[in-house]
Formats: sequence, structure tokens, C-alpha cells
Amino acid sequence: NIQVKKHPLTIRLCGPRGFCAGVDRAIQIVVLALKAYGAPVYVRHEIVHNRYVVEGLEAKGAIFVEELDEIPAEHRQQPVVFSAHGVPKSVPEDAQARNLFYLDATCPLVSKVHKQAMRHQRLGRHVVLIGHAGHPEVIGTMGQLPPGSVSLVETIEDADAYEPADADNLGYVTQTTLSVDDTAGVIARLTERFPNLQAPAADSICYATTNRQEAVKQAAPGCDLFIVVGAPNSSNSKRLVEVALRAGSMRSMLVQRASELNWDEIGDIRTLGLSAGASAPEVIVDEIIAAFKERFDAGIELAITAEETENFLVNRELRGVPLTHE
Ligand code: F3S
Repeated sequence: NIQVKKHPLTIRLCGPRGFCAGVDRAIQIVVLALKAYGAPVYVRHEIVHNRYVVEGLEAKGAIFVEELDEIPAEHRQQPVVFSAHGVPKSVPEDAQARNLFYLDATCPLVSKVHKQAMRHQRLGRHVVLIGHAGHPEVIGTMGQLPPGSVSLVETIEDADAYEPADADNLGYVTQTTLSVDDTAGVIARLTERFPNLQAPAADSICYATTNRQEAVKQAAPGCDLFIVVGAPNSSNSKRLVEVALRAGSMRSMLVQRASELNWDEIGDIRTLGLSAGASAPEVIVDEIIAAFKERFDAGIELAITAEETENFLVNRELRGVPLTHE
């Protein structure tokens, strides 16, 4: 009847973490559309970058497609939802041309960046977009303007190499989920080279990205390991892993589910940092805490750096639909 004594572990749990208002709204839009119009509801691209969320919605009757031409003709009257990341202008145009009924779940803070890019252009500026090539948000923001009116800059090296046609008429916007510190560096370099570079009228990096990075920065120093719950295609989650390492955690990793945890690799740690990307549901954070509690004598210490009260309304068509009876 001798029990093996568990090693003590402090879990520094970051707040804010997990779902942001834009992700919450996007998921609600799909759930409400299923209620209002019945299954199937099509969703163009992963509504948010999380398998667990996508599979949960699939179980309720959502069908995920990458392009509108994957929607079969007999389902043309069913709604199609555009993901939180935003879409190029060509997508709603294409939907209209195909007579599809679409619901746009683009995060209002991404739409705000789109408007700032259009404003630069209206004022005669060539747009510099700071962001990651290939990410759907970057594709969506570039697609607000005609081809050739936006240049993508990803890194300081890109900022050094960039040769604009008219260096005096430039305006920048950024992806909403970038590293706050890296982006400041890229902007500083661009401004050094192009002193007339105009900032957007409002910051592009969103409150959720900023707050999650801030909490991780506070919690990371002295951690033996930092776990960020999130998907490998989630930009904001990947940034949190980098921030943790830079802020002083010995190691940091992205984890999608507790079942992925490799205990040999984790080893004998004393302090664990824990946060979750904006698209990661809280149940997975709970699942990971439970897995550590099984193996360690774990206590939780909160690292809270902000309170969030943001809440975005769903599309007008869906506002009357009750969210009850899950
Ligand atoms: Fe929107 Fe920021 Fe979330 S842009 S979807 S609030 S990470």
C-alpha cells in the first residue's frame, strides 16, 4: 500500500488565454446558422484553426470546404460561412455570381485592417502588409485591393530588401496575430528606410494577440517548460511559443490535445507555464491540467495581466436565433 510520492509542480496559468471575441463569434455564427437553416451549413476554410472545434461543428452538420465550387448544386440554397480570417473580395463576388447565400464570419478586427488598407490606397499610398505569406488572413487582406497594390513584408530581411516604386507614398498594415515585438522591429526598420511610411489609423495587431503575449511574457521567466494549447496552423498560437522561449522559459511547445503529451520528453519539471491560443477551447486546457495532476502534485498559480470584455455581435440575420438547446 505504498504510494509513489508525486513530484511537486507549479502550473503558471496565463490569463487572458484561449478564445478571443472573434473566434467566439465565428463559432456562434456556424452554430446559429445550423439552427436557423438546418444542416448542412458549408464553411469555407477551417472556421478557426482548431481541429477540435472543426470536428465539433462537423458533428452538428457543418461541412468544411476550401473553395466555393466544392458546394454541390443541390445544396446551393444552404448558407456558406466565410472563416474568421477574412477572405479576398473575389470570394463574396464569386458567391454572389453563384447565387449562394453567404454569412461572413470575418473577425471585425480583421475587417478593420481591410478598411485601413483601403484607406491607404484611397490616399494614394502603396500598401505594405506585414504578415506571414500563405496565411489565409494575409491572402484575405491582399485581396481587398487590386493585384499589385500590396507588397508583403515578412521579416527584417524583407524590410531591408524591399524596393518600392515610390518610397514617399507608402502605408502599412499588419496581420492581426503577429509578434508585437518582432513587428515593432520590422516597422522601425521600414521607417528608417522610408521616413514617410504612414501608419494605419488604428493598430492592426488585435487586443487578443497583445494580451495573450503579455501574459505569457509575465509567466515565462523561470519556467522549465511552457505549453501553448493550439494548432500548428494557428499563427497567434505559434507566436506564443516563441514569446515564451524569448521571455525566459527553458523550453516551449505547441500541444493540440493532452494525448499528444510525451512524458519522457517532458521529464521532471518543477514549473510549467500554460496558455492557449485564441482558437483553442478551454476544455483542452482543462484536459492538460488534469493530465499533469495525474503525474505531479500540481498547484495552480495564475498569471493574469488583463481583463477582457470584448464581445462581437453576430450577423444581423442570426441575431434572433436562440443559442439554447445544445
Ligand atoms: Fe479577431 Fe484577434 Fe481573434 S483579429 S479572431 S480578435 S485573434
